[in-house]
Amino acid sequence: MLTRVILFIFSLKCVCGNVADVVLACSLVEEGVELGGLHGGPSFTRTPATLVLKDVAVAAEESLELLTPFVPPSVPDPDAIILEVKATASSPQIPNVDMLLHADCNDLEVTCEMSQYSVGEAHKRSGVAHFMVSVSVEASRFSMVLILQTLAVEGPSTLVQSRLGLPLGLSGTLSTEVVFLVFSQRNSESAQLKSDAVLHCGFRRQEAPPAQDVGVEWRLQHKGRGWKVLQTQTRLDGTEQNAAVHEERRGSSVNLTQVVAEGDASVFLSNLKVRDEGSYICSVRLGPFHAQQIIRLHLFQPPQVLLSQEKLVWKEEPQTLSCHSAKYYPLDVQMEWLLLPPSDTEPTVSKDQGSLSSHRQHADGSYSLASHLAVPSTVAPGTQIICRVSHRALEAPLSVSLLVEKPQASSYWWIVGFLIITVLFFYQVMK
Ligand SMILES: *[C@@H]1O[C@H](CO)[C@@H](O)[C@H](O)[C@H]1NC(C)=O
Repeated sequence: MLTRVILFIFSLKCVCGNVADVVLACSLVEEGVELGGLHGGPSFTRTPATLVLKDVAVAAEESLELLTPFVPPSVPDPDAIILEVKATASSPQIPNVDMLLHADCNDLEVTCEMSQYSVGEAHKRSGVAHFMVSVSVEASRFSMVLILQTLAVEGPSTLVQSRLGLPLGLSGTLSTEVVFLVFSQRNSESAQLKSDAVLHCGFRRQEAPPAQDVGVEWRLQHKGRGWKVLQTQTRLDGTEQNAAVHEERRGSSVNLTQVVAEGDASVFLSNLKVRDEGSYICSVRLGPFHAQQIIRLHLFQPPQVLLSQEKLVWKEEPQTLSCHSAKYYPLDVQMEWLLLPPSDTEPTVSKDQGSLSSHRQHADGSYSLASHLAVPSTVAPGTQIICRVSHRALEAPLSVSLLVEKPQASSYWWIVGFLIITVLFFYQVMK
């Protein structure tokens, strides 16, 4: 018991002590700095930049020898753009830093883009600038947007960043802190038609007087069209004052208790239909800050595969056998005929692949397709005919099959046989 208590205290100390710096290669994106784009639209310029997340807390088991702290250039360079994000007492914790720290070793591609952020005239303060930084880790489906606020430069500043016109610290970096962030643990989700889905979106903010309103809006965009799914408004002090949820899509909800208590703005969507597919934009507005995340929802439904008949008796003339793939989503499906003669052990792809019907779309948005095969008399009895269907919603191709049966001896021969036996019997008796 005692050792357990000691161990617990020890590990607690380790958590508190283990901090690391995460350094990310970023680009500063600026709009319309150069002369207008080719077609008069906005043009963007990209300048290499560096983002340093200072002193982020890491798991106790991290070996500190492997975590080298960020060392600023020995000679400050006014052309370099280095944003240092300090872990101040009031700034919120950055989610998934462990993943960012090990992205390189795990071959995860991290994208990082930053731009200057305007808080609007009413909230402008002299000497304070804001940045918006988008970070996404591709394979893990994690993404976040940070809103950073510059910290006052310590001591007399002599250096000014050449591109941004902002004073640099002695080490040639811009010191900032996180004031607001919006993130998604999974920015790509798959769900089956008619099922339910939860799309994750969360936010964290600087510790501040809680009497602030937070607005959450979910929009859906698909194939160039967009519409509102749901909108909520609530006060972060937990009073029911001003709290409202406007649900535009039936069966969508955001839990306001969780918005206030945990900064969880996830949306719940029930009874998914094909029209729910697309890119969901989760926008969170808090005071002068506004940031969003895009979460993609893909829908699927595996096909039901069925042959047109249960048995097939060999005949001299060709017979039609159909294979039906029903109620699948999305559209792409592959249907294939295979034959397994009694002499073989492995089926081979049939030379004749039959003819496909046109796709049929059902009221729920799912599709059906049939393939018709003319089975010739050259397919011997005992052959297995297989219909194999591949679809994105199936882990492995689905097969249905039947065996070509021998034709039964005609009843005419039965009668003749019976007569012969009867005649022979009487012949024996009369003898
Ligand atoms: C909202 O979340 C709270 C806390 O997790 C939970 O107790 C409550 O049942 C949820 N409300 C709804 C309507 O789901």
